[in-house]
Amino acid sequence: MDNNDLDKICFGDSIQLLKKIETESIHMILSDIPYGIGAEDWDVLHDNTNSAYLGTSPAQEKAGAIFKKRGKPLNGWSEADKEIPKQYYEWCCSWVNDWFRVLKPGASVFVFAGRRLAHRCICAFEDAGFTYKDMIAWNKEKAPYRAQRISKVFERRHDEINSKKWENWRVGNLRPVFEPILWFVKPYKIGGTIADNMIEHQLGAFNEIDFNKYTHSTDNIISVKSTSEDIGLHPTQKPVKLMKILIELTTTENQTVLDPFCGSGTALLAAKILKRHFIGFEKELKYYNVAKSRIEEIDNNNQISLFAFSSKI
Ligand SMILES: C[S@@+](CC[C@H](N)C(=O)[O-])C[C@H]1O[C@@H](n2cnc3c(N)ncnc32)[C@H](O)[C@@H]1O
Repeated sequence: MDNNDLDKICFGDSIQLLKKIETESIHMILSDIPYGIGAEDWDVLHDNTNSAYLGTSPAQEKAGAIFKKRGKPLNGWSEADKEIPKQYYEWCCSWVNDWFRVLKPGASVFVFAGRRLAHRCICAFEDAGFTYKDMIAWNKEKAPYRAQRISKVFERRHDEINSKKWENWRVGNLRPVFEPILWFVKPYKIGGTIADNMIEHQLGAFNEIDFNKYTHSTDNIISVKSTSEDIGLHPTQKPVKLMKILIELTTTENQTVLDPFCGSGTALLAAKILKRHFIGFEKELKYYNVAKSRIEEIDNNNQISLFAFSSKI
């Protein structure tokens, strides 16, 4: 891939497509990678042997939840369950060396990784040579609380005593209101300094003023709510504003942002709005088409506004 391939979304397997990207040609990778915890086809990264896994719970059916399938119950005794984190690490290892190769020294990587398996992702990045810089929390401000009352189980068993005794107790998790964004950096040249790297590659520091513009602080917790435009195109669609914040934090105009798992193309859209070049990969035709049309929509809008502008002069 050379300059002619910039500002494009490619349909196909990211692991293969990455091989075609020139070494040290990318200024930032921003990607919401599969979390490896769902049961959707694009998120299954392991061999699954639990028959409960692929069903839909009655509550999910009733609520018309975005995740149509049950998700993996964490029971602690299943040998198959215990393999999932290791298989997730191996899956991360299948592409992370190419991420390292294609980035320029001092470039940042922001990875959305699920809370449950993020640690395996961090290990894969460290093993590939990245510096693990920080974990940023995206505060979504809203999230469904799904912990179930254990007393209801006892009720169904007609066990009045235990139902009363455990009335205030729930199983599951607290409201999952934050998502980790892992921040990695490709080390700069041996013996060099970060200042030298800034001059050579225009990478290595972060833009405090552009960050403050959105967040009004330099806290590593970013609060961004999804608007009506940030939902409905992909089950894990991220807000455009959040992607813009991260892109402006470490890149300048005309630099190149790569999203190897682009889904509906939110990171690429944000890059385009901010006048950065972009490259995106997506293996599901449905989401590839969505991403492509979101980008084309901006092109069309720009042409309309350019036309409106030129017809005024
Ligand atoms: C978590 S989603 C990204 C959603 C995105 N943040 C958005 O706002 O729409 C991850 C995407 O990676 C895609 N994917 C998974 N494995 C892939 C692979 N090997 N090559 C290309 N795309 C892949 C999935 O189809 C899915 O759409």
